[in-house]
Amino acid sequence: MKLDSKFFIAGHKGLVGSAIIRNLKKKGFTNLIVKDRQEVNLLNQEQTLSFFKKEKPEYVIIAAAKVGGILFNKEYQADFLYENLMIASNSIHAAYLSGVEKLLFLGSSCIYPKFAQQPMTEDSLLTGKLEPTNEGYAIAKIAGLKLCEKYMEQYGKRFISAMPTNLYGPGDNFHPDHSHVIPGLMRRFHEAKVKNQKSVLMWGTGQAKREFLHVDDLAEALYLLMEKYEDSQTINIGTGEDCKIIELAYLLKEVVGYEGVIELDQSKPDGTPRKVLDISKVKNLGWSPIFDLKKGLTETYEWAIENNVF
Ligand SMILES: NC(=O)c1ccc[n+]([C@@H]2O[C@H](COP(=O)([O-])OP(=O)(O)OC[C@H]3O[C@@H](n4cnc5c(N)ncnc54)[C@H](OP(=O)(O)O)[C@@H]3O)[C@@H](O)[C@H]2O)c1
Repeated sequence: MKLDSKFFIAGHKGLVGSAIIRNLKKKGFTNLIVKDRQEVNLLNQEQTLSFFKKEKPEYVIIAAAKVGGILFNKEYQADFLYENLMIASNSIHAAYLSGVEKLLFLGSSCIYPKFAQQPMTEDSLLTGKLEPTNEGYAIAKIAGLKLCEKYMEQYGKRFISAMPTNLYGPGDNFHPDHSHVIPGLMRRFHEAKVKNQKSVLMWGTGQAKREFLHVDDLAEALYLLMEKYEDSQTINIGTGEDCKIIELAYLLKEVVGYEGVIELDQSKPDGTPRKVLDISKVKNLGWSPIFDLKKGLTETYEWAIENNVF
């Protein structure tokens, strides 16, 4: 890629898209194309195709998607399936028709089977049943990465996909109902601190283990994939390390400076006991995450305060 190559980042206002833009700007890329939903709605095939044919981007990363936390995902499965299928089909097919040089599509680790062996390797895809609460989202993401794989195999297109683990960082969504675990808990500790509440209630035993990657680490990994990765199989991006949800909660409590106690409602489910990606493939390409979780959470909280998200 050259620094003046025409680079389209779909979903540039989101957590991932904004981190990709930060990273590409830092590297000196000068020809970045961004369009918000009002300008190009990727649900609309005609609009998407005419944009790609007119702009003719050389490099494309699809970081646009309908994304949400567990409850939102579960309640709106039809919307998650439909919108993510449309975004994937419209953008990947338009990239094919308009002669895009290389495209990277983003999936998510929930595409792997609910009972996949841990750490989860790329080979575990489609080897078992999905987690029912986010089946709609996962099926759409699987379709997107299979589209990349098939366009590469049938047409020789350099369309690749990556599977990030749970992400966090500046630009995250702090909505009280629709957010992921880190911004959701950060908000609850922050509000408890401001209102002087004695305790914060969490669901489950806190013993389930999850993996968290800073979005700036992801952006660097995606850059590397755009430079070096040419395989049709998707590739995991994570830390390869997991932590107990209760450990994460204590870290967040400390970062926010909340002095009350954490109470656990152990009658509520924990979900899958452990979810962590095998990252051997991406490590072999020469990438490793650099953010320490506490440092990353501290910076994210500072960003949230500066940007008045609470
Ligand atoms: N966040 C995570 O923990 C995580 C983990 C693994 C994988 N991923 C993947 O990373 C990608 C980006 O996620 P994110 O967390 O950055 O999501 P996000 O913060 O919600 O950003 C998504 C972006 O996509 C845009 N978008 C949605 N529908 C669109 C449409 N029809 N037309 C044009 N733009 C549209 C949104 O614009 P509006 O603001 O207008 O809606 C928003 O800017 C997704 O593919 C997701 O599956 C995320």
